[in-house]
Amino acid sequence: MRQTLTIDPAEIARQLTLCDQVRALLDRRPGQKTAFVDTYGCQQNEADSERLRGYLARMGYTFTDSEEGADLVLMNTCAIREHAEHRVFGNVGALLHTKRRHPDQLICLCGCMARQDHVAQRLRQSFPHVDLVFGPQLLWQFPQLLLEKLTTGKRVYATDDVPGAVAEGIPVVRQSTLKAWVSIMYGCNNFCTYCIVPYVRGRERSRRPEDILAEVRQLAQAGYKDITLLGQNVNSYGKDLGLDIDFAWLLEQVNAIPGDFLIRFMTSHPKDAGTRLFDAMARCEKVAPVLHLPFQSGSSRVLRAMNRKYTREGYLALVEELRARIPDIVLTSDVIVGFPGETQEDFEETMSLIETVRYDALFTFIFSPRHGTPAEKLPDPMPKEQKSANFQRLLARQNEISGEKHRAYVGKTYRCLVDGQGGDGKLTARTAGGRLVHLDADPACIGTWQQVRITDSSTWALFGELAE
Ligand code: SAH
Ligand code: SF4
Ligand code: F3S
Repeated sequence: MRQTLTIDPAEIARQLTLCDQVRALLDRRPGQKTAFVDTYGCQQNEADSERLRGYLARMGYTFTDSEEGADLVLMNTCAIREHAEHRVFGNVGALLHTKRRHPDQLICLCGCMARQDHVAQRLRQSFPHVDLVFGPQLLWQFPQLLLEKLTTGKRVYATDDVPGAVAEGIPVVRQSTLKAWVSIMYGCNNFCTYCIVPYVRGRERSRRPEDILAEVRQLAQAGYKDITLLGQNVNSYGKDLGLDIDFAWLLEQVNAIPGDFLIRFMTSHPKDAGTRLFDAMARCEKVAPVLHLPFQSGSSRVLRAMNRKYTREGYLALVEELRARIPDIVLTSDVIVGFPGETQEDFEETMSLIETVRYDALFTFIFSPRHGTPAEKLPDPMPKEQKSANFQRLLARQNEISGEKHRAYVGKTYRCLVDGQGGDGKLTARTAGGRLVHLDADPACIGTWQQVRITDSSTWALFGELAE
């Protein structure tokens, strides 16, 4: 049986008519209506912002890339680490001044921070210039909430803990004409002890396969060349659908859609990734040879305290199986330094794991206590300075490894998607494995696949020219 609630399509249709009502209200005000959508955090939020832009476009807004002078500012926030929250609070504070210069400016805040009670309270008390606050589960109700603000003139707070649902049919305004995000599921059930996501995004819920496949088909027909399937743990896709399908099955279905596009996906939790996934990746020619497989710590003891449900040995065995199946796989990962109770020996195990695996790229984070998570309460005796020294050491070693990995590309030729132009005039391109290439070529190449010969490399990127 399907456990996930799907919002009645008639309800989404109603939201669209409410967009038209907002538009009619705004039309009575002079001038063109502009909106600035400011997105923080992960790709999931990027994808959500594209739907929020879809609603805003339907309301008659055009988009700007600055809060200054915008008639509506929508901050789509992230709560993953303290630093992310500080940035948002700093920027919300600064909006007080832009609003003074533009008193009709509407200030809205949504995303993961909005679902935290202490954040909502602080906004209410200290940031009276914020007009509308709503959590990620209520994204689909944005038109209704904005209309309420406009008609009552009062601040609107929709930050309650409502069970999540899946909403189809919200219009989308995408940022790129080449690369597209496709959410395949929302929420997370894993409750890693450091992580805020399950609290702010709610339980896992999968979109129906026919809805996902219809969206990808449309993207392929529109000429999109790089499609990323998104979920906090894509390998548990489908468990709530009551159908006999899983993520490996979905990959095969997406792969069968006609078109010249690459398929990426993230994120895979090591506890749910395995043979079925690797086989599907190897079989599906459109699936990019890259896997983001966060390990978080090289110490089984710390992994247990993190509630990750795998060991160091289990993780390494998984990587070995993957590399046996797909030898040229590009492997990336996330790691946390300074989890409460992590000892110097535990950290050395993390160092030795990156030495064994040799990731192409690694996203490194210092543990940040999150309000309401179990890890927030754990004793944390390691001094800040030691965590920071460990962090720097890890980063320095990984940079060397990334540099060495990149050096191995030099002299070889790769099929790359040319996706833009950098400030230096060079074009930017990506290998199928997702490595950035700075390319000397005619801007007319943007949007096409090209054979690129790699001529040089650095820690962060490759340099190349068009192969003859
Ligand atoms: N669902 C994804 C990751 C989401 S968050 C997964 O399971 O891999 C992205 C990364 O942020 C995590 O992989 C983790 O490394 C890091 N992270 C999450 N919570 C954190 C915290 N409290 N402190 C520091 N890093 C954190
Ligand atoms: Fe957070 Fe863990 Fe869920 Fe990833 S799997 S979002 S780290 S709780
Ligand atoms: Fe941040 Fe929410 Fe993503 S907390 S990392 S925006 S799921």
